[in-house]
This record gives sequence, structure tokens and C-alpha cells, in this order.
Amino acid sequence: MAAAPSLSFSKTLEADAPVVVILVDPDNRAGATGNALIGQTTGGFERAVAATGFSGKPGSFLDILAPAGLSAGRLILAGVGAAAEFDDKAALKLGGQVYGKLKELKVKAATVVLETSGGPLSPELGAEFLLGLRLRAYEFDKYKTAKKDEATGPVAVTVVAEHSGKLKKAWAEVEPVADGVVIARDLVHEAPNALGPQEFAAEAEKLKKLGVEVEVLGEKDLRKIGMGALLAVAQGSVRPPRVVVMKWNGGKDGDRPAVFIGKGLVFDSGGISIKPAAGMEDMKADMGGAAAVTGLFRALAGRKAKVNAIGLLGIVENMPDGGSYRPGDILTSLSGQTIEVVNTDAEGRLVLADVLTYAADRFKPVFMINLATLTGAIGVALGSQMAGLFSNDDQLAGELVKAGEDTGERLWRMPMGPEYDKLIDSRFADMKNSGGRSAGSITAAQFLKRFVGETPWAHLDIAGTAMSSPETDINRAWASGYGVRLLDRLVRTRFEG
Ligand code: BES
Ligand code: MN
Ligand code: ZN
Repeated sequence: MAAAPSLSFSKTLEADAPVVVILVDPDNRAGATGNALIGQTTGGFERAVAATGFSGKPGSFLDILAPAGLSAGRLILAGVGAAAEFDDKAALKLGGQVYGKLKELKVKAATVVLETSGGPLSPELGAEFLLGLRLRAYEFDKYKTAKKDEATGPVAVTVVAEHSGKLKKAWAEVEPVADGVVIARDLVHEAPNALGPQEFAAEAEKLKKLGVEVEVLGEKDLRKIGMGALLAVAQGSVRPPRVVVMKWNGGKDGDRPAVFIGKGLVFDSGGISIKPAAGMEDMKADMGGAAAVTGLFRALAGRKAKVNAIGLLGIVENMPDGGSYRPGDILTSLSGQTIEVVNTDAEGRLVLADVLTYAADRFKPVFMINLATLTGAIGVALGSQMAGLFSNDDQLAGELVKAGEDTGERLWRMPMGPEYDKLIDSRFADMKNSGGRSAGSITAAQFLKRFVGETPWAHLDIAGTAMSSPETDINRAWASGYGVRLLDRLVRTRFEG
């Protein structure tokens, strides 16, 4: 991971700050500090604006070099749009845009005045700005032996904010969420030779130092418990599976926990139903769900969230081998239901089936939410703009959609129903593990639902959103860390509102 810029907080702008960024609206007005700066320049600003057509639109910038009358070597105007519409989502984006601009200009140290023409940014908006900055700065470069100096962005950012103390406090609440997203992205990027089930479990165990209880179940434990579906997927790999149980007890004693479950295929070759060679390397990211849940627990523990939460990771490798499970095999899942394997590449649902059963039985959750890079079909349907949401509970689904809109990690609710469920009935067992190509994401969800029982449940299919990410204001890396901010927000509104 590339180093995030070091942050400092200040109440006032130092007269000799070499590079100053101010936030400007479409009428070319800034906050008091910015307006004062502009007022000191001798016509340079007006002329520069007239010459460039700088409009103050969100995402637009004007770089004024050596402004006459100012000690600053450089004054960068960042367009933020109308001050009245500048909300937390705009602040998040702006943080990313400002980082991107500074990097493009090869500026190594800058001061940003957190003020619009509407006044100083609230500490909450300021913290979102810093979150955007931090996430945009993220890079996975640990395996690059030759680091290009000119390619690195700003190393020091000073933010000027009237309530700098309150901003620092607000950032202390948000920074753990940034750390969580970074952990999720790092895990998704990590090479599969370096990150097997054992290594993944060890990463989760690092959260112990933040007060998360972490229990790791090995192959023997899983056999004793009876996770026949999960173990079948694992049997072709020389690297035995793990199920990780994380507990964050930040809520009231006795309050039933919220459970978050992640699909953790450290590599999905497809197994005997092997995938085509092209792009198979992407299947190192088939643990994106488990990565997001790990990142979420980093966030919850880091900010001491007032919630009782359980995280469960089903960490397995799917490989072709003489000992692999095969098409035709009939498995007995932990629930007792039998599954005919018709495609060993539909493995994620087998892993999740047993973990869902285990979660519902052991923890009696208020709800359970699983995240999984489950089907290529969800990417066909929704692209990388939205993840698929499947749920048996309208309230939970509504809260998730809302959290998605509020964070920009968006969700689209997909249909479920008995018409789809019957597509996975099997001739030889209780069900088969694939319903074929059509409605592939929905039949996968119907499969999971058979292991859920009465617990309010949601399944997020993040195969389109976790990896191969498009360039956005807050991410330039391949992995997005999708789900961490979304679920942190859900926890805040449901349990901490
Ligand atoms: N891990 C894949 C789904 C996936 C595809 C994730 C592309 C990310 C990007 C999953 O295990 C899988 O192979 N699903 C199959 C299901 C089919 C065999 C029923 C698929 O989507 O083709
Ligand atoms: Mn697969
Ligand atoms: Zn998979």
C-alpha cells in the first residue's frame, strides 16, 4: 500500500504556505479566507478566470502560478458547485479530486482551506473530505520493486479549518473506516500464493489488538461441526480451509448480534468444471466478500461502534485435483439438506450455505448479511455501478438501499420467488448447486435462501463491484473495498442513530 499523505490540522492559514487550495463556487466566490487571498492579488485572479473560463463546477480546477501580490507560490481553485448543495457525498468526492489534482501537478505539500462561500465546512463534511483524499491516495504497490518517485502524490496535506479540533475528532471517527477500506482493498489485491486460508485467517487475527475476539476453526473443527458442503469445495486444495469467527461486543450485553458473512475463496479456478484461462488470475479476488467483512470489523473496532456484531469468513480454495469434488457428487450440508453438484464452479454458494446455517444456529442474529463475489451474471446485469441485493426482509433491504445511496456504494434489489427457486430442484437430491445460465444471480440467491430459515437476511452479490473497478474520484486501484463503507453506515443508522 502506498503511504497516505500525512495530515496536519490548523486553525489559520500560514502566510507563507507555498501551495494553497481554496474551494470556489460557480459565482467565483470562496470562503472568507479564500476571498481575502483573492483580494490580495492584483488582477491576476480575475484575469486568470476570464482567460480559462473556470466555472467553479464540481471537479474543475484552476491553477494560478505565482499570483501577483501573494506570498503563496501557487493558488489552486477547486470548483465545488453551489455551496447550498455541498453535502457529505460532494465532500468525499472533492477530497478525491483534490488529491488527484495535486498528484497530477506533482505538488508534494499543500494546504487546503476547508471553507466554501457558505462558510467553514462542518467537521463531518471535513472528515468526509479527508476520507476521499485518503481513499484516492490508495495504491497497491508492494510488489513494485522500482518505485517511480514522480508518480507518487502529495506527501503532506495541511487542512485549515475554523474548528480544527472538532475536525480532528470527526476524522478520528472516520479514519478507522478508511483503514477498513484499505484493508479490504489490500486483501483483494494480494496474490493468491501469498494469501491462502491460513494467511487470511492470520490477517483477521490481527484485529485482536483492537479488541475484536477472533476464533479460527480448522479443518478438523469443520468436520466435527459437519460443514459437508464447505469441505467438499476445499478438498481439491492442498491448503485446508478455515472459518473465522470475529466478535465485536460494542453493544449492550445480551443484545442479539448483527451477523456479517463473507465468501472467502482465496482462489477460484472453477475446480473440475475449470474456468477458461483468460482472466483466471482475477479469481484471486473471489474473497472480496470476506475482505469487506474483515475491513468492516477493522472499522467497527477502530471507532468503537456501539453494536454487537459477529463476522464470519468462509475461507477456501477451489482447485482441480485427483481429490477434488466432482460434478455428480451429492453432498450433505450442515443443515442436513443434500446438494447435487452439477458444476464445481458454483462453489461460493456451497461455502456460504454451511456458514449461513452455522450463523443462524449459533448466534440467533437480529439479521445476517452475506457478501459474496457470487456470480458473473450480476456484473452482466448491473455492471460495476451497483451490487445486487437479495433479501427476505423488506425493512433490512430498505435500510441497505438507503445506506447504499448515502455512501455511493449502491445496491439494486433483485427479485426472488418460487418460480426461480424451482430451477434448482434436483432429480437426485434436495437441490442442485446451479440452475444454469439464465437468471444465474437469482438462482444463486435462491440457493442461499434455502439455508437461511426465518432470520432476516440479505445477500449482496458484489462480483461486479469488488474488483476490476472503474476509475472514480475516490479510487484508482483495481479493488474497490466495496461494502465496508456501506455496512459501516448501516450499522450507524440501525444501532447508533
Ligand atoms: N467466483 C465466481 C463468480 C465471479 C465471476 C466473480 C466473475 C467475479 C467475477 C463464482 O464462483 C462462479 O464461478 N460462478 C459461476 C456460476 C455458474 C457456474 C453457475 C458463474 O458466474 O459463471
Ligand atoms: Mn466459481
Ligand atoms: Zn467463486
